[in-house]
Amino acid sequence: MQKLEIKGGRKISGTIVISGSKNATLPILASTILTNKKIIITNAPILRDVETMVGLLSTMGSTIKLNKKEKKIEIFNQKTLKTFAPYHLLKTMRAGVLVLGPLLAKYGMAKVSLPGGCAIGPRPINLHLDALKKMGANIKIKNGYIVASAKKGLKGCFIKFPKISVGATENILIASCFAKGKTKLRNCALEPEVQDLINFLKKLGCKINRVGKRSIDVTGVEKLKPITYRVIFDRIEAGTYIIAAALTNGRLKITNIDPKVMSTEINLLHKIGVKIIRKKNYVIVSCPKKLKSIHTMTKPYPGLPTDLQAQIMVLMTKAEGISTIRETIFENRFMHVSELRRMGAHIEIRGNKAKIIGKSKLNGAELMATDLRASVSLVLAGLVASNKTIVNRIYHLDRGYENIETKLSNCGAQIRRLK
Ligand code: UD1
Repeated sequence: MQKLEIKGGRKISGTIVISGSKNATLPILASTILTNKKIIITNAPILRDVETMVGLLSTMGSTIKLNKKEKKIEIFNQKTLKTFAPYHLLKTMRAGVLVLGPLLAKYGMAKVSLPGGCAIGPRPINLHLDALKKMGANIKIKNGYIVASAKKGLKGCFIKFPKISVGATENILIASCFAKGKTKLRNCALEPEVQDLINFLKKLGCKINRVGKRSIDVTGVEKLKPITYRVIFDRIEAGTYIIAAALTNGRLKITNIDPKVMSTEINLLHKIGVKIIRKKNYVIVSCPKKLKSIHTMTKPYPGLPTDLQAQIMVLMTKAEGISTIRETIFENRFMHVSELRRMGAHIEIRGNKAKIIGKSKLNGAELMATDLRASVSLVLAGLVASNKTIVNRIYHLDRGYENIETKLSNCGAQIRRLK
């Protein structure tokens, strides 16, 4: 099993080009099930989850090509797709469930594996299923599979999500594009990746209107256009590298981004003391003399993303005084804490709140990665720890960070992959 070895204490300085967003690419790829026109997606991140989604669509019969060098995905659905999404492809990537809505909308049936378990909490899909039922789908769970049909097609209706969910908003948004009549979606997730999916679908020819706060109206269409679409940048990757520079007293230019999309994260880091100069499509991060403590919580966009919680926590171990972070999105997203404690961090957990006692000296250790963002927080900790840190089970990291060791070592980190 591959590991990362990091020798801490080096500044992260230079330039890092941010990749396309994983969380935007996955729903966009799923939505191509709707169309038999040629689609080209550019700025695609070359990540394991993206390869899994490409594999899933290919298994279903799509002619889909991932050009890793050009970061381009070409899709041409020349024939009718199979409406079956097997367990072995969904067990490692929960976003596979995003094919359910488009399959039902396009073919009136789908058999999709229930996604596998997840370290960060139970992650149910009731919101996806309840909304599809409201649109006229008949849904049963059989032998670990969602067996769904809508013989007469899905129909537009009024759906108010009882809880804000990125995945449910995306699944139902895509399904609504081919439903009969108008679908009114309320209490939607507004993450930039959801907006990117909307931009993609609109370019395809779908009729989608943001009609108010967390409200989206979709009118079903029948014909779509061939398009080329550039995926939005990965704001979580960008946030992670800003933190890497701040932690190590480095000076880093982070490019291929739109700082406006991540104002919440940038404003919070400013408050902590990180210096960030914002330009149109890049930021320059420089080292703060002192980091200040904060009291914050994760929230749906435009709040602080849960996907950046673990990385901010590492930064807080270096701040003055006591910080707190409340995790309000997932039940079990403090898996990194026990490993950070083994490195010498002083962190207490009470319910969904972490109390971080600052100015900890971190020592290198051998660590176990548990999920994607927890893994990267351990890499960040390794960058500032004394001696050597080994992060095991980095397959989690490869799901969401493109060439992390190359990007960091090009900026001065001593990091290498052990095979
Ligand atoms: C997406 C992101 C993930 C991010 C998360 C929250 C992708 C591929 N993944 O995950 O990186 O951490 O948003 O920003 O985009 N819930 C239910 N029932 C459902 C669906 C969700 O109760 O049917 C709950 C979840 O358990 C969680 C909360 O809603 O507590 C938010 O989850 P959701 O926004 O759906 O996360 P994902 O779409 O899975």
